[in-house]
Amino acid sequence: MKVLVIGSGAREHAIVRALSLDPAVDAVVAAPGNPGIEAVALCEPLPGGVTDADAVVALARRHEVGLVVVGPEAPLVAGVADAVRAAGIPCFGPSAKAARLEGSKAFAKEVMSAADVPTGMAHVCTSLDEVADALDALGAPHVVKDDGLAAGKGVVVTDDRAEALEHARGCLDKPDGRVVVEEFLDGPEVSLFCICDGEQVVPLVPAQDFKRVGDGDSGPNTGGMGAYSPLDWAPAGLVDDVVARIARPVVAEMARRGTPFSGVLYVGLALTGRGPRVIEFNARFGDPETQVVLDRLRTPLGALLLAAATGGLAELEPLRWSDQHAVTVVVAAHDYPATPRTGDAVTGVEEVPGAPDAYVLHAGTTRDADGVLVSSGGRVLSVVGRGSSLAQARERAYAAVDVVGLEGSHHRRDIAERAERGEVTVPA
Ligand code: AMP
Ligand code: GLY
Repeated sequence: MKVLVIGSGAREHAIVRALSLDPAVDAVVAAPGNPGIEAVALCEPLPGGVTDADAVVALARRHEVGLVVVGPEAPLVAGVADAVRAAGIPCFGPSAKAARLEGSKAFAKEVMSAADVPTGMAHVCTSLDEVADALDALGAPHVVKDDGLAAGKGVVVTDDRAEALEHARGCLDKPDGRVVVEEFLDGPEVSLFCICDGEQVVPLVPAQDFKRVGDGDSGPNTGGMGAYSPLDWAPAGLVDDVVARIARPVVAEMARRGTPFSGVLYVGLALTGRGPRVIEFNARFGDPETQVVLDRLRTPLGALLLAAATGGLAELEPLRWSDQHAVTVVVAAHDYPATPRTGDAVTGVEEVPGAPDAYVLHAGTTRDADGVLVSSGGRVLSVVGRGSSLAQARERAYAAVDVVGLEGSHHRRDIAERAERGEVTVPA
């Protein structure tokens, strides 16, 4: 089977890498891909961007692929998976209607309410007065979310009422702007990816992501600065519980509405003292959690994604996992997430020891006119370390981070540190 992967981040690099290790996958094409992906796959340009459904279908036809995998949210919300399926090609990724679970937080709340899924109390607001009332009703800390897609930057969590109102004003100023004001959920966060085929749900292993830009969870939210798996501190039975109480009811509700969900249902959770609560759904693999989750997957990825795309998850054998630990650290550009600088030389990537112990996945990289590897985005590299303990995986990841160079870059030094010290606990 030939597979076409849409996207250009480290998540897509991890997906392409895993597919290229699958003996049943003969070739991988990526569009647009990146210089790291180029080492394992053929990269094709997408001049109209990843939301250009006609161009994606044309590429899939030209390369006669048996499966298209859509990485990012924007093409899913834009209906790229619908167009691929309409052309008769299996596609891993939800329809535009099903991707609304990620595309609109208000819609996600409505589905959760209909499916009786545990989540925080929330008010959907269309005016600043409504926001002010909601802030007072729910109290501090305040959680204010842009209803629509905002690349991980739509959420503000703050004790400062004025700051909460200011963020809401910015969101409401957009065309059809809506904000969701939500109850603060206290407890460690977990990301669980559930592979769905419209009916069946197959969970992957949980991972933890670090959303804030700075050490000790300081500074603004980002797309994600690092991740690790497994979570040795997570309660026994967590995955079964989340599948039974959250993923299956949501998939059933989406099917009941005539918009079945296939692809990845990314369940973002807070493990509160009252049990797991949904913080968000995404309709795609998370970045950077995918980098550590796929590092541990031993079942060939191609067959899993094809089964999801063709309604065949019920026949799939149980997934196999490595018991190794994986840690990824994101190397970000100067001034990410505010105004990331691009065009800086990326050095040392070739000197990293290499898989399986430590390897570099590319995110925001490109080659300049002279063929020099330079930065082209906010998150530039995702460096993965693997080990028989979390400590060893961290050590290998950070040793590799110290080998790569990027002028003005920054990264967190404390990814998985509290877990290594046994300090992560679920509130009683
Ligand atoms: P989201 O885009 O909804 O995942 O939100 C981004 C980040 O904001 C989450 O990963 C949490 O760290 C934080 N966050 C979102 N909603 C809440 C909430 N209700 N309570 C506490 N923190 C939250
Ligand atoms: N790591 C968070 C996300 O992919 O949205």
